Parts: sequence; structure tokens; C-alpha cells
Amino acid sequence: MEDLNEQSKELNVNAISQQVEEEPIQHLNNPVANLKPIVKKYLTAVRQVVTDGNKFYFSDGDARVEIRVVSDEIIRVRLAPHGVFLEDFSYAVPKVDQKVTLFKLEESESFYHISTNTVSCNVRKSDFQISFTEIQSQVVMNEDQSPMHWEENVDFGGYYVYATKTCMQEENFFGLGDKSGNMNLRGRHFQNWNTDAYSFGWDQDPLYRTIPFYIGVHQSLAYGIFFDNTFRSYFDFGREDASKTSFWADGGELQYYYIHGPHVMDVVKRYQSLTGTHPMPPQWALGYHQCRWSYYPEKKVKEIAEGFRSRNIPCDAIYLDIDYMEGYRCFTWNKKHFPDPKRMIKELGSIGMKTVVMIDPGIKVDDNYWVFKEGKENNYFCRRSDDYFMEGHVWPGRCQFPDFTNPKVREWWGGLYKELVDMGVAGVWNDMNEPAVFGSGTFPNDVRHHYDGHRGSHRKAHNIYGMQMVRSTYDGLKKLMRNRRPFTITRAGYSGMQRYGSVWTGDNIASWEHLILGSIQCQRMSISGVPFCGTDIGGFSGEPDGELFTRWIQLGTFSPFMRAHSAGDTIEREPWSFGEPFESINRKFIELRYKLLPYMYSVFWEHHRYGFPILRPMIMLEQEQISNHYRQDEFTFGDKILICPVLEQGAVSRRVYLPKGAWYNYWSQEVLQGGSEHQISAPLDEMPIFVRAGSIIPEYPVMQYVGEKKIDEVILNVYYTDGEVNSFLYEDHGDTFAYEQDIYSEKKFNVKGDASTLIIAQSVEGLYTPNYETYSYNVVGLPFQVQSITIDDQEVSDFSMNENKELRFKSDKKFSEVRITG
Ligand code: GLC
Repeated sequence: MEDLNEQSKELNVNAISQQVEEEPIQHLNNPVANLKPIVKKYLTAVRQVVTDGNKFYFSDGDARVEIRVVSDEIIRVRLAPHGVFLEDFSYAVPKVDQKVTLFKLEESESFYHISTNTVSCNVRKSDFQISFTEIQSQVVMNEDQSPMHWEENVDFGGYYVYATKTCMQEENFFGLGDKSGNMNLRGRHFQNWNTDAYSFGWDQDPLYRTIPFYIGVHQSLAYGIFFDNTFRSYFDFGREDASKTSFWADGGELQYYYIHGPHVMDVVKRYQSLTGTHPMPPQWALGYHQCRWSYYPEKKVKEIAEGFRSRNIPCDAIYLDIDYMEGYRCFTWNKKHFPDPKRMIKELGSIGMKTVVMIDPGIKVDDNYWVFKEGKENNYFCRRSDDYFMEGHVWPGRCQFPDFTNPKVREWWGGLYKELVDMGVAGVWNDMNEPAVFGSGTFPNDVRHHYDGHRGSHRKAHNIYGMQMVRSTYDGLKKLMRNRRPFTITRAGYSGMQRYGSVWTGDNIASWEHLILGSIQCQRMSISGVPFCGTDIGGFSGEPDGELFTRWIQLGTFSPFMRAHSAGDTIEREPWSFGEPFESINRKFIELRYKLLPYMYSVFWEHHRYGFPILRPMIMLEQEQISNHYRQDEFTFGDKILICPVLEQGAVSRRVYLPKGAWYNYWSQEVLQGGSEHQISAPLDEMPIFVRAGSIIPEYPVMQYVGEKKIDEVILNVYYTDGEVNSFLYEDHGDTFAYEQDIYSEKKFNVKGDASTLIIAQSVEGLYTPNYETYSYNVVGLPFQVQSITIDDQEVSDFSMNENKELRFKSDKKFSEVRITG
């Protein structure tokens, strides 16, 4: 393959007379525009091609298109309606170019082909339609149904920009992050405009976050499209016209990345390589969190914290919602309710409870309030087009709002957390950052933003505002906490937000429908690049009964972010609020979360380091099976544990689809064969959970909070398989950035079994040495009577089989090979 990387050449193309297609249309959003004919302009025939390294510029004589080879599997397309591209700046993608091996430009009679080893981007000469073909199978993965087009925006300047693709036969769509309703997006229409969607409903759109990234699957092959445009954007998956998939935006550039699969997992990992992964959270953040709007005064906060300890229900964090502040002024304390916050935080800390506080973007207009004064003096607040301040009412009353798209403002805001950090606050929760304004919903379009020097109105900055707020929070905390890992949560965000914080799904409702919805939402966020996601366990508004709350705790045990939260006008809902048997069952599941902590933390590492999502819906496991394109009520956490939440009131069993291979019922250890459905018993104290045969699931002792106990040994639960499976255990300091300097330990376990042996091999990477010395094994499912166990050729005499036929023995943590023979 010829490498054109260093070359720049101009091709002469047969001049084809340029036709401008003019199509008067009705403009839906703009009543004034309806008075005049609006003209959609389409790209016409290709007349010129210029190459510049990994960028190829095609022109029809007026408009230009840039096609850029980003990696072997990612190709970016940009449109400049009159030949001039906008500045190439993205909050989502910090660095566009990745490693490319080889690529070439070829010309055939009707097309130009830009191809890498994996994918070919084809530009049809006659009409500029673009398609993407998988080189190996020659399957057309994605193709324009009409050429890219645009429409001048007379009121604001720039263009409405449109791409219309063919909706392939039997093609299904996934992703888009924060959307309500079913997992499969086919036949639906969506809009992205970050919205404070209190008590949102099934299919309500838009919600809090914008992730303009979707995955298409057809002919068992997957690809993704990331439309990196922060303006109000729209996606239509065959709803308006069953043969078309389109995406468009109210402004900005028509710029999208084609991301090749062929597996859904590959697409997600590659999307993650563009937009980044979540940094390792402090390990305690994977524990259980308790929240309410609001726990106050101090006595109440302590009573709740102590309530966990006296009942032996593990919990790592307690939240202070807006009422801890003085008149909802951010970075202040209500001294009546919290006379000495530093002491309180310390006392909570002494029983292992971390304090997380709420910080909103609305700053009260009050000349006696230091934050407002600093913001005003330094001109940090957003302004309208005529230079008035952007003012709106939120919790504190009349407010102004920092422009988080200004790097100076972000730096200032990050520094404001100093006092909170000095007091010992462990995490920060950023809310209302769509941005939300009472009454009008959000800012008017004419508000101006710095946009890191690429100035724009709120039309351009709205969807990015929340992400820049949590970015400023994260970066500020990171500096202030020195080498400790910040923990942040944000409600609003845009693609790439995962680099700065976790998310929760906003103000849900205590209903069975919302339990289903929450399960889908977390899966969807996970495959849309936002791994650290959870719902308000129990529902924010409305009243759950004990059964619903318990089923929600069970789902939450396997949500990457596990937090119960509720609105102030509802009954309290701590894990003990509903009495027995609920309290004991809630404890059992929260304890399970703490036991599985090393597994969950390792899955987090796999995400951070390699871009794997944490939750994996069925479409990701077996995309070739069409029925899986519709399954949304089960998922795996990592690749070893399958979770089948009980989402129906009164249910004591449920249908479960097991992916191909053998699976162990976590509770009974019965082995079931996958590739089919099974009816599984699910009494209130058991949510169906399955472990993939061949897995090693590491386990810590139950703790009341992360770090409560010194870990003397790690339990390795080994699930026999007739075959070979790899598992991982990741460990590090848990709260520092030393892992960036390779101070971590990544253990790979290889399990190989046949009718008479099971061999476990271990290899270790990294510079961190955990404190414990031994592993305690718990081997299940052995099909033979154990005759001997050797560890690195040394015979072990001390082993036993318990009544559940689990084989127990111990080894030094440094073993290389364990051999169990029958
Ligand atoms: C918003 C948040 C909610 C919070 C409340 C008060 O509704 O979504 O979680 O409790 O504001 O701060």
C-alpha cells in the first residue's frame, strides 16, 4: 500500500458542470423564516481533490469537504459550505490524530477511495455522496442517501447542517447517551439540548446530557458515528422516513467521525480513544453512598451516619444537598445548622464516612457575598448580547452565572473549593448545570461565551456548559487535593465529560417503570462512553414501598455509581427505612458490593486503561443475534458477571437469556448452558446473578467502608470450566495518582480445565505490592474428586471440600501455577 502521509498532490478531475440544487422548504423552528423561501443546498459533483498528509480536501467548486484519516479505523468528515472551515476546536476530542499504519487514495471511474487497512471511505464523483466500506468483507457499513447539505441561517449567521444516511436493512441503532425509553433507537427521533427534566417520563426527550454518538449494527457488523457538534442537534433513525437515518444541527460545522467496529465493543473503545476515559476514582467512591435533599442539621447527618454503623450496613459517603449553605450561596455554610463543619466532617471521617457537598452554578447577586464580588470584579459572569449580565432565578433567588467556557473562570472556580477541601470534604456534586433557570428553563440564545477563545453564543455553548463546570471542579480539586483523586458528579455534560466526573440520571420517580428505565439508562450511558453512572436509588420523587426500594438496591449494587437519593417532600429512605425483611436484604446486597469491590475496581481499571465499558448490554455480547438487539433487561458488569435485575412488582422468578457458554448461578452454583433462555427463581432476597465459567472473581472481606480493615488475604472464587478463560485483578493505592507512574499491580489469571485437571496460572505486572500475603481459594464446579493440589510443584496437603462441594485451600500471593488434579 502506498503511504501518502508525506505527500501533497493535486488531482485534476474532469470538470463536471456544477448544479446547485435548490429546494424551498418550510422551516419548522423559525416563524419569521417561514415567510421567505429557505434554500437547502447540496454538495454537487466533485471537481477537485487536494491531499495534505492524512487530510484530503474535495471540492465541488464552492463547498469543500475534508476527509481525515484519524486511525486505521476512524475517519473524520468535515463540510465547509463555502470552502472555509471553522476553527478546528473540540471540547470532546482533545487530540484528533491517532496512530495510522498505512492509507492511500485511489481513483476509480466513479469514486475516490481513501482506504486504510480496515476501512475505505468512498466519495462518489457524480454527486459527492460518501460511503464507508469494510475492506475485508466489502460490506457497505454506512452511506449517504443524499449528499451533505446545509441552509443559511439568516438570523444568527452560519448554517443549519444536515447529513442523511441510508437506514440499512435490519439495521439497529444504539447509544446517544442520556436518552429515555428503549435501548434500540430505531424508528425514533431525538434532540440534544441539555434540559433540567424533573420527573422525566419514558421516551421524554431531551434530557440532561448531550452525547451525539450512535452505533449502527447490520449484517452482524457494527460502526459508530460521532457528530461532534455542540449546537442543538437532532437524530432521526428511520422515523421520518424508514429508509433514512439523519443527523443535523442548528449551527456549527457538519463534522463527524466514522468509527469502524466490527464489534460494538470495538466501536465503543475507539469512541473512547477519541473522547477519553474516566480517570481512576478513589476506591471509596465505589462504595455505597447515602444522599437526601437534604440531611440537616449536623445532628441529623450524624444520626444517619451512625445509623449505618450501628446496623452494620456498609456506607462510604453521606451527601449534603443545598440546605447546608447560607441562603443557597455556594461555598458558604449555614452556621445555625452546621456551626463547625470542619469538626463535623472530621467526626464523620472518624467512622469512615466521607462528606460530599453540592455546588450549583447560580451565584446569588449579593454585593456582600465574596464569591459574587470576586466574579463581578473579574468579569467572570456570562453576559447577554447587549452586555447586560445574564440573570435568572435559581435556588438562591436572582443569580448570575460563571462562564465556564473561559479558562480563567475555570481556574478561579476550581480554586474556590479550597476551604471545602481544607475542611476535609471528599467529593463535589455539580447540579443544575444544563444550565437550569427557573421559569425560562435555561439561558436565552444570545448569551455570549468565551468558548476557550472560539467565541460563541449560548446556541453553541449550551450543551457544553455543564461539562466545563465539572471540568473546572475536577481540575480545581485535583490541584487542591495534591496527589489524591477527586470525586465529582455532574448532572449535565457533553461527550468527553467522563474525563472529569461521574453522573447520575437526574430526577427520576419512585416507580417500577423508572426502575426499568434506570437500568436501560445506565447501560446506554455505558456504551456511550460514560461509565461511572447511577440512578437515584429508590426514585427521587414519589414514594417507593419496601419491595421497590429493595429491588432498586439490588440493581444499584451493580450500577457503577451506587447512591440512594430522594426529594425532601418524600419519606426518608435509608436501607433500614422499610423495616424487615427489607433491611436485611438491603444489607446483604450492599455487603455483596463490598465483597466484589476488587472485581469492580478491576473492571474500572479495564475501562480507564483500555476503554472497555463497565456495563455491557446484550447487544455488545452477541450482536450477531438479532434478538439481542432488543434485549435490555440484563447486562454484564465487566465480562464475568451477568446481572438480571428483577424489574417487576411481585415477581419471584424471571426469564433470563444466558449468552453462549456455561454460566454459574451465583446463588446455587448450578451450571446452566447459554445460548438460550431460562426461567430463574428470584425471591426478594435473590436477584439472578450468573458468573461465566472459567472466571476468577476476587473478593475482599465485608467492610463497613473502604479501608476499614487491613486486608490479610484475598479470596479467589474460581469457577471451573472445561476450557480456558482469563481473569484480571487490579490493585493500587486506592486514592493517589501513583498508578500513572505504573505503581499498580495488574494480575492476570489464566484458568484452564479439562475432565481431570484445573490449572490456574498467574502473571503480575506493575510496581505496586499489596499488603496481604495469601490467597484463599474457593473452587466451585469441579467435575472430579480432588487427588492432589500442587502450587509451583509443591504438594499442598491442607485442602478441604465443604458441604457445597467447594474446594478450599490457600496459597502465597506470588504463586505462578496452581494445579488441581483428579
Ligand atoms: C435537583 C437535583 C436533585 C437535588 C435538588 C436540590 O433537582 O437533580 O438531585 O436534590 O436539585 O439540590
